[in-house]
Amino acid sequence: MVAVSQRLVIHQMASPQDDGSFAEDVRAGLTAAPKTLKPKYFYDALGSLLFEAICHLPEYYLTRAETEIFEQRAAEIVAQLPSPITVVELGSGSSVKTRLLIEAILARQSELCYQPIDISETILEQSAKQLLEDYPGLRITAHAADYTRGVGSIAREDGEKILALFLGSNIGNYTPDEARELLRQIRGALRPGDGLLLGADLKKSRGALEPAYDDALGVTAAFNLNLLSRINRELDADFDIRRFKHRAVFNDERSRVEMHLVSLTRQQVNIRGLEIVVEFQEGETIHTENSYKYDLEMLAALAERTGFKPAPGWLDSNARFSCNFWLAI
Ligand SMILES: C[S@@+](CC[C@H](N)C(=O)[O-])C[C@H]1O[C@@H](n2cnc3c(N)ncnc32)[C@H](O)[C@@H]1O
Repeated sequence: MVAVSQRLVIHQMASPQDDGSFAEDVRAGLTAAPKTLKPKYFYDALGSLLFEAICHLPEYYLTRAETEIFEQRAAEIVAQLPSPITVVELGSGSSVKTRLLIEAILARQSELCYQPIDISETILEQSAKQLLEDYPGLRITAHAADYTRGVGSIAREDGEKILALFLGSNIGNYTPDEARELLRQIRGALRPGDGLLLGADLKKSRGALEPAYDDALGVTAAFNLNLLSRINRELDADFDIRRFKHRAVFNDERSRVEMHLVSLTRQQVNIRGLEIVVEFQEGETIHTENSYKYDLEMLAALAERTGFKPAPGWLDSNARFSCNFWLAI
């Protein structure tokens, strides 16, 4: 067996801290009205661990539903493309669910090049090493980068088709306009005959959606509040975390769950690294995440508008979550 170190390449594209975009995005978001922060900044080392914990919560049905689909349908999903395949994954995280697809591909071809792209370098490296220990036929070329930068660096060998994965309802973090723009960028990195597997959460009742983003144990609250801790750590700020609380609410009209951080008092926060003082009114919020919920018609329309041919997808047994295979045309 070829050693793990010889089967792994990690390209570290400039991290958000190094290229200044974290600082500039925090400045722009906290001086805007209403205040916002981008969800991609949840995923520092601690935030990635907290997300893994969220995936185990009883309220967070999304991971279990998508896993169920892969457990039952992985062979059928990967058979949508002829071998040999190379797999690119945007926002791979721990790659736990992806194992089911990797196993189905390795049952058809003896070797596979997996190309995960994730902004969180720690989880990318850790999961890549674990995958290589477990699958001797696997090689990994990883990109620690924003999707938009990493997707321009994907590679293929002659005759290979690319199967791009965008799982876990990651697409839900984007407004409809942003989602179209990102999907067009992904399509631009593919060739006709390649495929995209998109995991999208489906519209459902407020009673099912809100607990998924506001669990009884408070793990999602910690995940959200960690954004303020991260600003304290990396930008020398003095957010008092206990003076903010997590809120998750389903906005039915816009078909999205919104996460906010609510200021419990009127207060000022000094962000020394940015040389700014930010004022909060009591009850004022920072909007930190949207999770858009789709229906199957919206998904088919999205595919058609971004250069893909949609095909009937797969649902979990409770019809809560959808996996959609789109062929690049
Ligand atoms: C909701 S988690 C999903 C993880 C995994 N795909 C799953 O389905 O469980 C989002 C993942 O995407 C990564 N991520 C979020 N925004 C990103 C961006 N703009 N560019 C690259 N990676 C990003 C995070 O670090 C995290 O690992």
